Amino acid sequence: MHSSFLLLPFLPAALAARPFLNEPTTGIDEALANTPAGTLPDLQGIVGLPDFDWAARRYMNVSDYTYYRNGAAGEWSYRNNLEAYNRFRLRPRMMVDVTNIESTLPTTILGHNFSAPFFISPCSRGGLAHPDAEKNFVRAAGAENILYIPAFFATLSMEEIAAEKPSNDSQTLFQQVYLSSNDTETQQLFDRIEGLGTKAIVFTVDSAADGNRHRAARYGVGSADSSYTYITWDYYNKLQNMTSLPVIPKGIQSVEDVKLAIEHGAPAVFLSNHGGRQLDGSPSALEVALEIYEEDPQLFRQIEIYADGGVRYGADVLKLLALGVRAVGLGRPFMYANTYGVEGVQRAIQLLKREIAIDAGNLGVPDLKAIDASYVKWVNNGWYS
Ligand SMILES: Cc1cc2nc3c(=O)[nH]c(=O)nc-3n(C[C@H](O)[C@H](O)[C@H](O)COP(=O)(O)O)c2cc1C
Repeated sequence: MHSSFLLLPFLPAALAARPFLNEPTTGIDEALANTPAGTLPDLQGIVGLPDFDWAARRYMNVSDYTYYRNGAAGEWSYRNNLEAYNRFRLRPRMMVDVTNIESTLPTTILGHNFSAPFFISPCSRGGLAHPDAEKNFVRAAGAENILYIPAFFATLSMEEIAAEKPSNDSQTLFQQVYLSSNDTETQQLFDRIEGLGTKAIVFTVDSAADGNRHRAARYGVGSADSSYTYITWDYYNKLQNMTSLPVIPKGIQSVEDVKLAIEHGAPAVFLSNHGGRQLDGSPSALEVALEIYEEDPQLFRQIEIYADGGVRYGADVLKLLALGVRAVGLGRPFMYANTYGVEGVQRAIQLLKREIAIDAGNLGVPDLKAIDASYVKWVNNGWYS
């Protein structure tokens, strides 16, 4: 018997022990080795979204970088968000005409037209990476015609952010909110949001209790939301009566809650575990999307479903779209890209658009709207588990 056969029983254990890689080794350490600490490499040297993390980690001071990077507790959910996509292999189809794939990226989100099925997720404190803070997200999203959802705890005020939109108000923004129990304040906030021409309210429902952030606690940069908050479906219905805007619950993590969202008249739901920053052990959006698909794929047609967490590659986006997710959000990659200002954010958007198109092409998808679950083998192959 060949001696390597003797090792077969130990193979699963060996694979399971494969170390976690925050940034997969694709040669950036060697290629950009001469980048002095505290400086950014040339933007042209950034070839994929994980590279922005590499650049930001060397450029930003450690506490600011930690605020962006951190996850809850042991960061198992943060890691799982990144690793979940690679547990499922693609099923490429050959001999398919994919020459028009790029023209099929545009989509609608709640009826608004965008050039691609991904968006900038709401992340607080954009000013830690760049003095123009969230202005860069508005400008880059506007130039590339993708959706940007400013965070409630942004560095700039909602008014300063909205002022960056083109004067003809052609750019669509949604607004993320955290709410206090004071209805008068909530009403005033909703009125302000409507007055700015914002098209939807994204209500974060995954943070009813404080985040447990070990990495951040070392630098005193933990969650800004430190109280227990009253968030129920009754409360959600009350909010719907306080605004004419659609209110999208963000942080849905089970098929039961998707069904409840439909029952309570939600226009859309946003699958997210807050980038693994809130509850360690919470599932990645891909796992939740698969749970929904396995229970009832029609749910993706009954309500628009968005998802974020750990998306770094075009193929990650494709796996979510294949299950029926309408649009996919990214948080940290854009926050790190903002170290370069508007050009960095725009490059991140362009890199991802290109990766989605070429990955779909190689997967044999002629039209991105035609992607379905048959393009992925939905069997956990055990890698990185
Ligand atoms: C620095 C940072 C700040 C965030 N702030 C908020 C926030 O204020 N409100 C919210 O709903 N989500 C917030 N999130 C979560 C993001 O909206 C999003 O769900 C998450 O970043 C997606 O995971 P990804 O970073 O792996 O793409 C934040 C995430 C990061 C990284």
